[in-house]
Amino acid sequence: MTQDELKVLVARAALDHVVPGELVGVGTGSTVNHFIDALATMKDRIRGAVSSSNQSTARLQARGIRVFDASKVEALPVYIDGADEIDGQGCMIKGGGAALTREKIVADLSGCFVCIVDASKRVDVLGAFPLPVEVIAMAAPQLARRFAALGGTATLRPGVLTDNGHPLLDVRGLRITDPRALESEINQWPGVVTVGLFARHRARVCLLGTAQGVETVVF
Ligand code: 5RP
Repeated sequence: MTQDELKVLVARAALDHVVPGELVGVGTGSTVNHFIDALATMKDRIRGAVSSSNQSTARLQARGIRVFDASKVEALPVYIDGADEIDGQGCMIKGGGAALTREKIVADLSGCFVCIVDASKRVDVLGAFPLPVEVIAMAAPQLARRFAALGGTATLRPGVLTDNGHPLLDVRGLRITDPRALESEINQWPGVVTVGLFARHRARVCLLGTAQGVETVVF
């Protein structure tokens, strides 16, 4: 099976985690695009979706799924999203698609993050994928120096601004053995909008697409 076929497999499997009659939190990315397509088949059985990006909002609306503003919602039964890497505890690197800030906000509305990934995203230690960090532009150079002190190399993602209008740093060379501690530390640095480490908002369930089918991992 190709990587894209594995993404379709887990995207369809995620429908079993959508609660009928309720809202569903929707992430961003190519795997989530397949999930939105699958969600359209049960759109009359859900209230609608809370979206994590302009891209996902456009796709949801194009398929006739009502999109609710996160600011008007108090809680979501489930949030479904992909990841760039996921470790054995459900901690993730996210933000390859530049949507990390709104993803974390919508994930925070839900106690249940269901992560949908193909098996290539499963790692023992996070960090081979460059860590995305949404930043305030004027702080980018001093934040890059802070990452250098941790052994990382931060570069601005060329030509990209997030839906919130901010640039992104991609940090290479980190070996993240304590994701929760690193997330907390980076969150304290002035100029950081959001770090793409999801340890405090880690996955509770991972649907992993493998050649043998969908493996469900509960953390
Ligand atoms: C977007 C993300 C995505 O979930 C992540 O990049 C995975 O994307 P894909 O499903 O295309 O592999 O964090 O900001």
